[in-house]
Amino acid sequence: MVKKPKNNRGKRAYKKSTKRSTGAVFKFVSSKRWYFIALAVVVLVGASFKLRPGHLGAQPPPPPADALYRQPNLPIETRVKDLLSYMTLEEKIGQMALVDKNSLGKIEDISKYYLGGVLSGAGAKPQTNTPQGWKTMVDGMKDQATKSRLGIPILYGIDANHGHSNVMGATVFPHAIGLGASQDAALVKDVAAATAQELMATGVNWSYSPSLDAPRDIRWGRVYEAFSDDPQLIATLGQSYIAGTQSASNDGTFVLASAKHFLGTGAMIWNQSNHKKFKIDQGRIAINQNALLQEYLPPYKAAVDAGVSSVMVGLSQWGDQRVIDSQYLVTDQLKNGLGFKGFVVSDWYGIYEYAKTSNYNANIKTINAGVDMAMLPYDYKAFLNDVRNAVKDGSISQSRIDDAVSRILYQKFKAGLFDKNQSSIGLENVGSPQHRLLARQAVASSAVLLKNSDSLLPLSKKGSQILVAGSGADNVGRQSGAWTIEWQGIDGNWMPGGTSILQAIRQEAGTESTVIYEKNGNFNPTTGKADVAIVVVSEKPYAEGWGDNANPTISPEDLQTIERARQVSDKIVVVMLSGRPLLITDHIANWDAAVAAWLPGSEGGGVADVLFGNQPFTGKLPLPWPASTSQLPISADGTTNDNSDPLFGRYFGL
Ligand code: BGC
Repeated sequence: MVKKPKNNRGKRAYKKSTKRSTGAVFKFVSSKRWYFIALAVVVLVGASFKLRPGHLGAQPPPPPADALYRQPNLPIETRVKDLLSYMTLEEKIGQMALVDKNSLGKIEDISKYYLGGVLSGAGAKPQTNTPQGWKTMVDGMKDQATKSRLGIPILYGIDANHGHSNVMGATVFPHAIGLGASQDAALVKDVAAATAQELMATGVNWSYSPSLDAPRDIRWGRVYEAFSDDPQLIATLGQSYIAGTQSASNDGTFVLASAKHFLGTGAMIWNQSNHKKFKIDQGRIAINQNALLQEYLPPYKAAVDAGVSSVMVGLSQWGDQRVIDSQYLVTDQLKNGLGFKGFVVSDWYGIYEYAKTSNYNANIKTINAGVDMAMLPYDYKAFLNDVRNAVKDGSISQSRIDDAVSRILYQKFKAGLFDKNQSSIGLENVGSPQHRLLARQAVASSAVLLKNSDSLLPLSKKGSQILVAGSGADNVGRQSGAWTIEWQGIDGNWMPGGTSILQAIRQEAGTESTVIYEKNGNFNPTTGKADVAIVVVSEKPYAEGWGDNANPTISPEDLQTIERARQVSDKIVVVMLSGRPLLITDHIANWDAAVAAWLPGSEGGGVADVLFGNQPFTGKLPLPWPASTSQLPISADGTTNDNSDPLFGRYFGL
């Protein structure tokens, strides 16, 4: 039985005492007992104050300037051991706490509570969202961390899911599903390295990517965050992504990657979410142990082999148990089985979400299961108190704490953060022309040609009349999808430095062609029939469970636009901007050509490149394209739920 935390008991006692009647108070004051009780209270309050985490009064003196851990030439193991020997319990537990920037009371709390990391949850940005604004904010926090007794640097983490996409002006690369379609490991490594460079330029040293999820159901709102549903392709690209992210910069430091969401994420089943408003995200994984280990573990093996610094545990449950509570999965399989030497971080509020127990017990359960760092992300003071009390009452062993902290410190040393806390990578790297060119290449490589009657594509640049329409044609916000400035993305053509598909078509069509744009396809019919109409249909941006959708298909507005365009054009090319395969079985027969462009990001030029033949189509579907919802879920070997053939199989692409 786990003991109740002391502070809870204290609260209850206080409530009771306030119920005393005035008469009783008078009697009490006139007796002499109050004197002794007051004395006892003063002593007790004093003692509890001493125990409060972060209270600096009773601190040991700082270690000598030449302490072993401060010597860059010594082996990391020596440095970790040395540093650990100086740390108080409070300093250790502080390292295990990861706090959202917006939940941080005062910046001084970073050093006062010895926090291990701060993160910008999606949308948590500095007051001025510019690369310089980010650098000033993050550097300020990193400076603050070094003011603590031991001067341990913090990790500053962010979801760089497709570039440093919280930053206005950064290069926005295709979401992972597009990179999966490219199947190009070298390209993926370059994309990750460029992203890391943009992160480092703003001081950020930890990226919550890559996702190693394997989606089995296109109705899930996170399909696009995954490379594929094929464990082998996920493993290959995940490994490249990690190598790119963690490649050392020219100042010797690197960005820590985080493989997520361990384990089984993507195998949840429809209508079994734990979240009241979601349908499948954060739900129940319904595959057996064999399938879980054979289909979901290999990408983590590849990640561990690539030296991934951290692994994030997901919010789903396997059978009746939350994955985060499973010592079998987190410690036996990941740490002992795969030999993972980095640290395990929980997902957003992941320790407490759906815990069905007190926060106190949830901390104990998950830390004992193998979680090393807690993405709290809110109440760090309660966490520090609870974990300290749990160590004191023996619910968490001192050696488990030492193991967790050693893992975190090891990665901080390895990434060079103790020796170089401020990055020397220039801000000119953010959204640089080279990175945009790379992104454009990635966009072209990710586009999959699904249909091409009479070899309509590539389009001629000579003397044709081209109509352009559709909700996504002139909308970099939809091109980019979610996790772009805001968690849920921003619909519209707002992005400085970005190129919409329409703009790119105008640039690439050639001077002899005419391009006419009408978003809803209301072209003037008197001008006669055009050679071709390109209709860019799109999903509105969505993230996580908010994108769970029982029937992901083309919107009625876009279908109407296609119809209108058909009236005035001989040929129709449909370009789909979507985070997943859309259900198009009833429509595709009416189109002459169809392109899956996924969520390409800021560089619409890559789409124009394949439409006009500057680049050939090389992309292949990274997952099967279902014909109907009765085919869902689709298992890892590509078999649909009703055993019928999908509309297009995995790796199809003309
Ligand atoms: C997501 C993670 C993400 C984290 C931090 C969670 O809601 O599931 O993928 O890394 O938030 O933003």
